[in-house]
Amino acid sequence: MLIDSYDRVVDYLRVSVTERCNFRCQYCMPEKPFSWVPKENLLSFEELFEFIKIAIDEGVKKIRITGGEPLLREDLDKFIKMIYDYEPKIDLAMTTNAFLLKGTAQRLKDSGLKRINISIDTLKPEVALAIAGKDVLKKVLEGVEEAIKVGLKVKVNMVPMKNMNANEIIDVLEYCKKRNMSVRFIEYMENKFAAKDISGVKSAELLSILKKHYEFEDEGFDGSSPSHYYRMKDGYRFGIIEPYEDDFCKKCNRIRLTAEGNLIPCLYFDEALSIGKAIKAGDIKAATEVLREVVRTKPEKNRWGGEDGEVSSRAFYETGG
Ligand code: 5AD
Ligand code: SF4
Repeated sequence: MLIDSYDRVVDYLRVSVTERCNFRCQYCMPEKPFSWVPKENLLSFEELFEFIKIAIDEGVKKIRITGGEPLLREDLDKFIKMIYDYEPKIDLAMTTNAFLLKGTAQRLKDSGLKRINISIDTLKPEVALAIAGKDVLKKVLEGVEEAIKVGLKVKVNMVPMKNMNANEIIDVLEYCKKRNMSVRFIEYMENKFAAKDISGVKSAELLSILKKHYEFEDEGFDGSSPSHYYRMKDGYRFGIIEPYEDDFCKKCNRIRLTAEGNLIPCLYFDEALSIGKAIKAGDIKAATEVLREVVRTKPEKNRWGGEDGEVSSRAFYETGG
């Protein structure tokens, strides 16, 4: 079992398969990065899988495939099948912008993928264009319908931003509620790579908007999920992700692997250790040691909302948030 210095069990690994993305979301990478990681520096699926086997053997129970946009990487379904075949009990999920999902959902499901998180920040085509830098809405919504149809469990992420999509909180919730998909509103997390003029909506404000429309009860946190959940009278549950709150990191159980093999212990900080050399050399012992060291050095909490007004310098597109 992997346990960090604050007694948190680390059993959730997020694996980014590419930092590249076909969107340019305002809160993530509004501009194409100065340079992409050269393709030859990426770990192959076989190499990523070698590390994943170690992580599973060390106690990881949940794996999420992320990007950039993971569906840009060819043969992703085969990679998912490798993980599934090694440990069918693993909770295998993916985060995607859904643009390429319509044509791939069935294959992903057949390969062993169980759950999928999709970003829906708006239901208006022109707002989607303003947020993602491209006219994406139609294909995204088709992707959502297909994922539901093939039986993937779908959750939706929305990042509400003032003067942008904050007036659609209720519409997005209703869209999700009709399809029995849980929606999580994510507070915008400031970072060096995001557009400069974003103003996020904090949870107190979100709750006051939601309270005008619905009655609901505070259910608190559910296991290690970073989301604070609320339940309406009819049973529908939505969440708010509040990284600026003091207790956000208390139950954190996750670490993140980038596509070039950097293992990152915390969402906020860009400190990381590389597993690349050990994996390429087939040195399982050394790779296990890197994994344990990263868990040992996991910081107690992030610094959003800190008094010094510091901004995270970690590129979210390297690990899909
Ligand atoms: N703030 C909040 N959420 C973000 N995401 C990416 N960047 C940010 C940010 N700066 C989330 C989006 C997307 C997921 C991949 O990561 O909700 O759904
Ligand atoms: Fe791409 Fe996701 Fe970042 Fe948007 S948030 S630019 S879809 S990686």
